[in-house]
Amino acid sequence: MFEMLETLPADPILGLATAYREDPSPDKVDLSVGVYRNRAGQTPVMAAVIAAERSLIEQQLTKAYLPPAGAPAFREGIFRLVLGTGAAGLRERSAVIQAPGGCGALRLGAELIQRASPGAVIHLGDPTWPNHGPLLAGGGLALARHPYYDASRHVVDLQPLLAALEQAQEGSLVLLQASSHNPTGADPDRPQWEAILDVVAQRRLVPFFDIAYQGLGDDLDADAWSIRRAAERVPEMLVAVSCSKCFGLYRERTGALIVLGADAGRARAIESQANKAARSMYSMPPGHGALIAERILGDETLATNWRAELAAMAARLRSLRRDFVAAVKATRPDADIDWLAGQRGMFSLLGLKPEAVRELREQHHIYMGLDSRINIAGLSEDNVGRVAELVAPRL
Ligand code: LMR
Repeated sequence: MFEMLETLPADPILGLATAYREDPSPDKVDLSVGVYRNRAGQTPVMAAVIAAERSLIEQQLTKAYLPPAGAPAFREGIFRLVLGTGAAGLRERSAVIQAPGGCGALRLGAELIQRASPGAVIHLGDPTWPNHGPLLAGGGLALARHPYYDASRHVVDLQPLLAALEQAQEGSLVLLQASSHNPTGADPDRPQWEAILDVVAQRRLVPFFDIAYQGLGDDLDADAWSIRRAAERVPEMLVAVSCSKCFGLYRERTGALIVLGADAGRARAIESQANKAARSMYSMPPGHGALIAERILGDETLATNWRAELAAMAARLRSLRRDFVAAVKATRPDADIDWLAGQRGMFSLLGLKPEAVRELREQHHIYMGLDSRINIAGLSEDNVGRVAELVAPRL
């Protein structure tokens, strides 16, 4: 049966992390996979997560299955975290289904769309996170691309993006990253979001939001603003939520799919269909991470501590951006790099040629995506000078 299967090349992001682990050089720097790191290069377990996990282990009475849609308090907590508390009537017309990470939520969303509108087209920005395509096409959706990024100005390429969406067929979907865009670090500002949502509403497109970095851009509320604004403007939408980065729960595979329908009856139908789709793929979601997140969100002290730690992580990302810009300019005062300090979240595209990226990896042990995407959190107060010195002449 497997005689004809070829061995595939490593995943463009996860493969780099493996190559980095295997590199014996003491100078190596990992700017590849998107995980938060502290000054020591570690991805620590957040203090609120440790406390919640400890109390969970002490108090849990069972490991019996969760309900099909997931842990009830987690689902309510995540809904409020993303959609906010102000939106009257929104919860009633929403289905919230716990999912195995943001990836699981994206795939579950695709399966749900496939049940509602077989062969539907989803429009993805170019570039976007490389796993968006496989996850959504794997669920049966047809992919279309639209411009997203103006690489020469390092900003969202708004006019071509709007022109492409104006041509999109009614009822098709558009994948929108809520904030801290992966891989570009360039988000629409609020007037630009309004312009995008104008086209979405006029063309009767369905937004499919991906929110994977809430709290790591500006703050928890500002980073979800685009989703909350869209919820006021469109009757239907989907949101894939990841708890990997904002709770640091990466390996626990914790996330949720939120789907807004026109009314409470539609929400019930959506939830039942999503549960059925999940049942045919993995039956029900894993419990541990969601039970930790629900404890944090439901406990005032833990929630306050968690918000503070997350805010400190976001502040550190912003300060590393400034440090990197300053260090590049110290080497090369004429370098076009100031834009990087104004971008948000974990990622930016340096705009290096693939040969330069390879050289940095092979000769200097600095690992980044072949598209020159860097994970800002991989920089540290200790390595930023060396990285900047090596990057500056290649910009
Ligand atoms: C990334 O983009 O590096 C992260 O989202 C991790 C992943 O799964 O690719």
